[in-house]
Amino acid sequence: MKLSSFWYVVAESDALRTGQVLERTVLSERLAVFRDASGKATAMRDRCMHRNAPLSKGTVKSGCLTCPYHGWTYDGDGKVVAVPAEGDAFKPRASRSAKTFATREEDGFVYVRLAPEADAIEGVAPFKMPYYGQPGWHTVRLVNVFKNNVTNCAENFIDVPHTAFVHLGTFRSSRKQKIDVSVQRASGSVHIEYRNETSNLGLFAKVLNPTGRPIQHRDSFHMPNVTSVEYVFNPTMRLFITSQSVPEENERTRVYTDVTYNYGLLSRIAKPVIRWHAQKIIDQDLVALADQMAVIEKYGEEFNNTAADAIHVLVESIRDEIAAGRDPRALPEKRAEISFWL
Ligand code: FES
Ligand SMILES: [Fe+2]
Repeated sequence: MKLSSFWYVVAESDALRTGQVLERTVLSERLAVFRDASGKATAMRDRCMHRNAPLSKGTVKSGCLTCPYHGWTYDGDGKVVAVPAEGDAFKPRASRSAKTFATREEDGFVYVRLAPEADAIEGVAPFKMPYYGQPGWHTVRLVNVFKNNVTNCAENFIDVPHTAFVHLGTFRSSRKQKIDVSVQRASGSVHIEYRNETSNLGLFAKVLNPTGRPIQHRDSFHMPNVTSVEYVFNPTMRLFITSQSVPEENERTRVYTDVTYNYGLLSRIAKPVIRWHAQKIIDQDLVALADQMAVIEKYGEEFNNTAADAIHVLVESIRDEIAAGRDPRALPEKRAEISFWL
């Protein structure tokens, strides 16, 4: 199993418009992404076969991508369909075909898989975004580039203790409350269930949980790069924050965050507030994670764990397994009960 065998988001479907080309990087592979004549997303190596100019700086016309340097033109399969300097003598040749990668479009995202079909893994598909597009549910979608790796980003997104520091007042207030947590690793995922969490949700506690009753809170990690946070404030108010952390380079991660919620009648008016609030929280994490990486780059990565970090250890065990070329779904199931103070 390799990281390149998984599906990674390269764009929001809406952001990849007909006649447009996007420049992206996934696992250090430079890509030019555009829509072919049929509207299907094409991900091509961002390197012209002629003199290696970046195709992502080219132009798209009738579903074909033209290189900005000498005008070689590629169709959606990567085939060269025009070479201006050859004039009328131009003939397509089998040897003139750019490298293309598999794409898929789901839940309003365009995905790419770098590995060829032969290295595809059975049962590995894009993560199903919870309740995306379902009646009564609304999604706010945010995109941010973090100066850190996927593992540290994913850990941050399901790290509860940091919220009382990094997001103090924005998202949480400190209550010196003991939280009990069940943690389980099974088939490439980590599932976390929090108990006796009440209304220490900072700014919006009064709106989200006016009566201060216990909140249901579940987090999860799914190999290789997805985290999901679920809050059930009451039977009519539910919220998911699902993040896909896409590795661009070793220390650069593009994160697509969906806040999908159902607040009943409040849903529509809540949207701008949720967008503003979610981005404010992410802005704080952008700084915290860039600062962490700056220190790691200087001194190397060497962590020291508390009971609350059991979650991170399990996430790392899954990511390490893939890095070693093994399938984390074969790891033994693990369960733990932990407690920490918040
Ligand atoms: S480098 Fe692309 S056409 Fe020459
Ligand atoms: Fe955070």
